[in-house]
Amino acid sequence: MDLAQLAALHAESLDAVASADDAAALEQTRIRYLGRNGLLPAVMKQLKDVPPAERPEFGKRANAWRNELETAMTARAAALTVQPSEAAPAFDCSLPGRWWRAGAQHPVSRVIDEVVRIFSRLGFTVADGPDIETRFNNFTALNTPPHHPSMDAADTFWFDDDKLLRTQTSPVQIRAMLAQPPPVRIVTPGRCYRRDTTDATHSASFHQVEGLYVDTTPVSLADLKATLAHFARAMMGPDVGVRFRPHFFPFTEPSVEVDFSCHLCRGQGCRVCKQSGWIEIAGAGMVDPRVYRHVGYDPDRVYGYAFGMGVERIAMIRYGIADIRHLYENDLRFLEQFA
Ligand code: DAH
Repeated sequence: MDLAQLAALHAESLDAVASADDAAALEQTRIRYLGRNGLLPAVMKQLKDVPPAERPEFGKRANAWRNELETAMTARAAALTVQPSEAAPAFDCSLPGRWWRAGAQHPVSRVIDEVVRIFSRLGFTVADGPDIETRFNNFTALNTPPHHPSMDAADTFWFDDDKLLRTQTSPVQIRAMLAQPPPVRIVTPGRCYRRDTTDATHSASFHQVEGLYVDTTPVSLADLKATLAHFARAMMGPDVGVRFRPHFFPFTEPSVEVDFSCHLCRGQGCRVCKQSGWIEIAGAGMVDPRVYRHVGYDPDRVYGYAFGMGVERIAMIRYGIADIRHLYENDLRFLEQFA
């Protein structure tokens, strides 16, 4: 054994320590070099055979090898017991940020919020009613005759003879007037239910916003028209106008259907307005005297109008949604467009 061989062993042992990648491999390395029958004790035993001139230098280098090897073993053992997460910095500010998918407001909620916002600036407050209603609130007090087809089990979800899922938000009018004397100035967004077969424009569950203004000072059809004309401009754009068409609802007299001029073609005629230039938006009218009697108001002393509009319909027109079912399927590719 000469100095060159010693140097080779020294280097090889340090490499072995560095490449031991778990505790078992490191222990094998320790046994191979430092163990009782290991290479280092064997080298020490050969010291006496080294020529006397080289012996001090050989001894010195063998000791240095032992020290370096032991230090390397200790450091490697420590490195192997440290968990990678502890070894990494707690926060690496050089990494790209994590992207969190932000939620978006559903178009139905957006339209409801917008309608409420517009009417609250006109002094309307929001009123609420339950989805499960009574026959009286949903039909009778709204002057619907007892055998009206809308009460049929084919159109309305009945729980029993009296309870049903409301088919419209109009019963909230009845609740509001039963609860307080005039003036009443409310809008009532909410969910409604009908036994409709689902297709591109129908759903068994949908939303309406009802409006009611009743006062002891004169309120006229002209007030209704001015209010809805303001709403049309605020909701659809400054050039949009309204048109009333005579109609019939049991709870209003006279009754009208309300059209907005088409905001897309400005009345010229397009696909959305079916070439007519007008889009049907709401039902409305002057509250029928029989409704006042049902809630204990004196029909000779109060004046008022009511209106009701479909939220999904407004959302579809406003955002160009071709099929009502998109609004209920929770497809993120659709919903993310409203972020
Ligand atoms: N409730 C009616 C419907 O579902 C809409 C409606 C029409 C509401 C006229 C009203 C109204 O308040 O005055 O078709």
